[in-house]
Amino acid sequence: MKITKATPEAIADAAAALRRGELVAFPTETVYGLGGDATNARAVAAIFAAKGRPRFNPLIAHVADVAAAERLGRLTAHGRRLADALWPGPLTLVLQRQPGCPIADLATAGLATVALRVPAHPIAQRLLAEAGVPIAGPSANRSGHVSPTTAAHVAADLAGRVAVILDGGPTVVGLESTVVDVTGDAPVILRLGGVSREAIAEVIGAPIEVATGHADRPASPGMLARHYAPATHLRLNAREVRDGEALLGFGPHLPPHAGPVINLSASGDLVEAAANLFAALRTLDAAGATAIAAMPIPDEGLGEAINDRLRRAATQP
Ligand code: TXA
Ligand code: MG
Repeated sequence: MKITKATPEAIADAAAALRRGELVAFPTETVYGLGGDATNARAVAAIFAAKGRPRFNPLIAHVADVAAAERLGRLTAHGRRLADALWPGPLTLVLQRQPGCPIADLATAGLATVALRVPAHPIAQRLLAEAGVPIAGPSANRSGHVSPTTAAHVAADLAGRVAVILDGGPTVVGLESTVVDVTGDAPVILRLGGVSREAIAEVIGAPIEVATGHADRPASPGMLARHYAPATHLRLNAREVRDGEALLGFGPHLPPHAGPVINLSASGDLVEAAANLFAALRTLDAAGATAIAAMPIPDEGLGEAINDRLRRAATQP
């Protein structure tokens, strides 16, 4: 396993490895993905094995553009509007599979639907173009760990389990994509993420609900109560810091604290906070604190997805 700067040659090599059925970690604008050829069931199985996923949750398939997506899934009217407005970008659409869709059943967990995303990151785009196959790509972390926003995070979790890690620097969005099911009459958000609920509502011209999955049979595994998890206990909506705690701050006014502190955004910018969230959780998790005190984050725009991730990270197993 090696971390490789994503030069054109390195991307071409990685694409060849994908076509041989090997796994490649690659940057997207949201988080790093653990990529495998989505049409190759053995490669998809290798993804589950590398992540140590307890169950075969359905995976996202990344594709190069809307035309490639349409060959795999049926774009409904809402789906087309969202794709035209927000692809490439941090949006995943759940669609009915097209007849003859070559995505491996293991990648869709045997469902009649398929989750597709056109990533905006130039390295992901180039990898897709060179590989010429849809790339299954969950976040490149061990199951239950925090999603990786740098190549070093990927290496910390998956060293020895992936052929190559393409390094494209830190990801800019920092949260996974927003997953929207457009198979029904009204679109539903299955997972909050890098596109805000408001932005989606604006495109479809109507308010949109976030699905409430059942704990035992979630609509989408992103809905599992505990999913994004540091080992250190996370104390939410903290307005003061206790002795021994680390502080996950937000905004210009932090409570005074002598211990470890990371401010997600000193200016109170939710986009910046989202980009910093997972790396901050990893750093504070390693600080040896008794708990991480997380200051309140406004529940609007990307703040809704940040709070979703923080609540999951705070849920005890
Ligand atoms: O930002 C992202 O989406 C990252 C980057 C690498 O692209 N990928 C990612 O993939 O987070 P993954 O596999 O960890 O998350 C896929 C989400 C899960 O919540 C999964 O349950 C849902 O999409 N999903 C996939 N296929 C589905 C389907 N057919 N129906 C409902 N949900 C589905
Ligand atoms: Mg994940």
